[in-house]
Amino acid sequence: MTSQVRGGQLARLLGQWHALPGRRRSPDYAALAGAVRGLLADGRLPLGVRLPAERELAEALKISRTTVTAAYRELRESGHLASRRGAGSWTMLPGGHRVASSGLWTPTDDLDMIDLSCAALAAPPELIHAARAAAEDLPRYLGGAGYHPIGIVELREAVAQGYADRGLPTSPEQIMVTSGTQHALDLVLRLGLPPGGSVLVESPTYPNALAALAARRARIATHGLALDGTGWDAELLLGSLRQTRPRMAYLIPEFQNPTGHLMPAELRERVVAAAHVAGTDLVVDESFVDLPLDGAELPPPTATFDRHSRVVSIGGMSKPYWGGLRIGWVRASAPQVQRLAAARVGVDMASPVLDQLVAVHLLRAAPAIAAARRSQLTAQRDALLGALAERLPDWRVRVPRGGVTLWAELDGPISSALSRAAEEVGVRLAPGPRFGLDGTLERFLRLPFTLPAPELVDAVGRIASVRYDLDRASRPRWREPAVIA
Ligand SMILES: Cc1ncc(COP(=O)(O)O)c(C=O)c1O
Repeated sequence: MTSQVRGGQLARLLGQWHALPGRRRSPDYAALAGAVRGLLADGRLPLGVRLPAERELAEALKISRTTVTAAYRELRESGHLASRRGAGSWTMLPGGHRVASSGLWTPTDDLDMIDLSCAALAAPPELIHAARAAAEDLPRYLGGAGYHPIGIVELREAVAQGYADRGLPTSPEQIMVTSGTQHALDLVLRLGLPPGGSVLVESPTYPNALAALAARRARIATHGLALDGTGWDAELLLGSLRQTRPRMAYLIPEFQNPTGHLMPAELRERVVAAAHVAGTDLVVDESFVDLPLDGAELPPPTATFDRHSRVVSIGGMSKPYWGGLRIGWVRASAPQVQRLAAARVGVDMASPVLDQLVAVHLLRAAPAIAAARRSQLTAQRDALLGALAERLPDWRVRVPRGGVTLWAELDGPISSALSRAAEEVGVRLAPGPRFGLDGTLERFLRLPFTLPAPELVDAVGRIASVRYDLDRASRPRWREPAVIA
């Protein structure tokens, strides 16, 4: 089934399309076509969706229908739109694109591409030892059917122990193993959010969480984070909970993706209390909890303050260990875990036993692996900060004390335009608006420090080389886009 984007939705996504940098001399129709290509390039507009009829979009944008007709024509000519009389127009990509090994659409000529759209580290050297040890353990499981909907007990014990070590007593019955944190979020939403239910999220937030919410047809409200301070405005956040009484709130209190903020203990306690009064379930994503930098002290887990089973915590192996493992988990009450498991068997039955065993062995080596990750990330973060200070001194950055990303405030609303230009010089970026709901956040850019320092420094040099071109009207038009997701 083809999904359709309505005129109002596309207008919101397009945001300030008519005022984007580098378009001073181009006519409106070309700017509109360029902005639609930009949305396709960064994944905010999916492939294969039906665009609004010309008249509907013209009304939503308050421009003439002729402009929309000309923009659609240009998109058809550049291979970004397919139209059939009477049936409408669908988004597509021009030839010369392929699906990369990551499963994402990329141009074919991207061998030299530095990919800063993905905030994840390569696997640690210990992974190969853990995989060998897991293969040795496997025979213990081969006599059974291999389906463990809540996960194998030794992994649930290890994860429960991790919470206990953080000061939150947890039994293995409170842990359910999932195929990654994203899967954990999807399951929690399936179980707890009725279609059209309201959810409060931070802005900016993790784009794939927004995708999971959109898939459940959630009504999304946002809490804006500040660049400085702790990020969350306590009174605003508590006020939103009290006034809008959302069905759920999705928060990332530890080294928030993308800003790197750490929520203080006092606010955690107040948020949990306010959520209880408002009847809101809190989904707390702890993906980055193992990655404090500079000796940052971690506040107690948010669930520590929970007396009414309001908090469901999710986390996983991807950020401290490796995304390719696809192991995550949910920490909830034992009855909730049973309900989640019942919901899960209708989806994927269980997570792979071998991968769970690999996770068990990695968690046994956790202190050493995490220490190495932290020093690697500290060095890479500092290299990135140094390069930014040198090459793009007008950008404002707050030093993140953990996690894997920094959130830069740019010297203008140029994030999408800059991302498109950067692609031409071999740097793939995820522009600010991908981390929000509409065409805002153009002044921001997420930069992960998960690649080796020399690549980060090289990437900043390339970004700087195109930054100042954006202001020149004579800049050649952007050619082939790539879709990131
Ligand atoms: C906040 C957050 N949640 C979830 C995920 C997805 O994690 P996983 O690979 O375990 O599904 C990520 C990955 O970037 C993330 O940053």
